[in-house]
Amino acid sequence: MHKLIVANYKMNGNKFFFHSLQKKIKKSKDTEIILCPPFVYLNCLKNKKGFYVGAQNVSCEVNGKRTGDVSADMLSDVGVKYCIVGHSERSQPYSTDEIIARKVENCVKNGIVPIICFGETSEHDNDCLGKMINNAIKYVNSCNVIFAYEPVWAIGTGKVAKNDQINKTVDLIKQICEQKAIQTKVLYGGSVNLVNFKVLNSSKVDGFMLGKLSLDINKLNLLLKEV
Ligand code: PGA
Repeated sequence: MHKLIVANYKMNGNKFFFHSLQKKIKKSKDTEIILCPPFVYLNCLKNKKGFYVGAQNVSCEVNGKRTGDVSADMLSDVGVKYCIVGHSERSQPYSTDEIIARKVENCVKNGIVPIICFGETSEHDNDCLGKMINNAIKYVNSCNVIFAYEPVWAIGTGKVAKNDQINKTVDLIKQICEQKAIQTKVLYGGSVNLVNFKVLNSSKVDGFMLGKLSLDINKLNLLLKEV
């Protein structure tokens, strides 16, 4: 199956790093990769077949008095095809349910595929997931989105969700999206590494969202070879 990998560089890297990444990254032809550097390094990376550039955040507003914000229209103007929305590290009050839904809407209106991150804060507290999924897509219909199921307790902690739980979440997302004619791919994220990804890869996910692992280009290439 065609797999999708999103590398979320968070607030890491520099010009040298992103130029070398562009040169050294290798993937098999069945894999697509979206590289998400900090805004200021977006222009160090180029979209080419199978490799795409994504942003890590977008404004919920269209334009105007928002010092420090970047709009979906601006991202699209500089060639950005994907954008992470709702990552748990963009904490309150920057990521209320309403703000996330509006960011998703702005991306879709500007031809950017949103990568919608969501997940429960504490282990076994999964009842909130349906509400989070429905909320994020409440202003959009008949479009393409990517969901990244990232349990907050798994991000950067070394813990990962079990495949049963991941599969249940994938089914839930697909069922909710189908009702709105939304095409979706589902990723898993949170402490994915070269060891645990073999088990995670046998779940129903379409790929992975990587944080720490993506900082090591050799490890990233190893994962891209095996995925
Ligand atoms: P991690 O980050 O792989 O370092 O846990 C994942 C993420 O925050 O998207």
